[in-house]
Amino acid sequence: MPAALGLELTLTKNFLAKHTKVHPVCALVLGSGLASVAGWVDQEAVLRYEDIPNFPRGDVAGHGGRLIFGHAARTRTPLVIFEGRVHYYEGIGMRQAAFPAYVAHAVGARILIATNAAGGLNPDLTPGDIMLIRDHINLMGDNPLRGPLVHKSAERFTAMSGAYDPALLDAAFAVAGARGIRLQLGVYAAMSGPAYETDAELNMLYAMGADAVGMSTVPEVMAARHLGLRVMGLSVIANDAYPHRRREPQRPTHEGVLRVTQAVAPQVQAIIEGLVERGDVT
Ligand code: HPA
Repeated sequence: MPAALGLELTLTKNFLAKHTKVHPVCALVLGSGLASVAGWVDQEAVLRYEDIPNFPRGDVAGHGGRLIFGHAARTRTPLVIFEGRVHYYEGIGMRQAAFPAYVAHAVGARILIATNAAGGLNPDLTPGDIMLIRDHINLMGDNPLRGPLVHKSAERFTAMSGAYDPALLDAAFAVAGARGIRLQLGVYAAMSGPAYETDAELNMLYAMGADAVGMSTVPEVMAARHLGLRVMGLSVIANDAYPHRRREPQRPTHEGVLRVTQAVAPQVQAIIEGLVERGDVT
């Protein structure tokens, strides 16, 4: 399967070219509960993941699973939006989990903005906060770049230092400030899931330097950097994952995560909309 990703991509690319004339400059990946973030985009082609050749198959409730091509309502910036993800914990490989980055690159996007729901490890983070990802720690136990190179010209050993684009970080803070949105900054640790972490694991992650923990984003970010895309990431802090702050063991539920994330989605949208309207993604 991985060895064939180059070929699969050609099939996927040809299929998409038949369905849309939009040439996106920026790709958005919308995580759990964040589907409404696509609401401000004039949607010109909407394709279900299951209808797209070679798109990995997932099984998690609450992930829409649609690929949307369209233009920003005001600035007419061409965009591609992945509404929902297929996660590593659903049983696919890391390389398949990174498929959106390969598709984004194949359709011409130069920037990838990933969003997710995460547990807050740092006591300064409260559920409902938005955290701009400054860096990540890959603890998923695998690497999406392992295996044959999808593009012969790509580097075998990809640098991950400065993976999250400093200019986009500055721009996101400028937009959040102008729009009165509290924006936190931190390090995202990615675990394979699907179990939530033990208290000992949460303590370890925080001691390690992570501020938030989740089960996504890292595969597509690593592949995006490999492909030369500029990257930004936003985590919605959906639950308190700091064992010392509470008496009861944490029992995050997917429904609880979705509830918080859906409530914060308008602010996530405002930040992304602001970046697009300022011209930061072109
Ligand atoms: N841990 C891992 N992934 C998550 C969490 C969490 O606490 N919350 C949302 N996604």
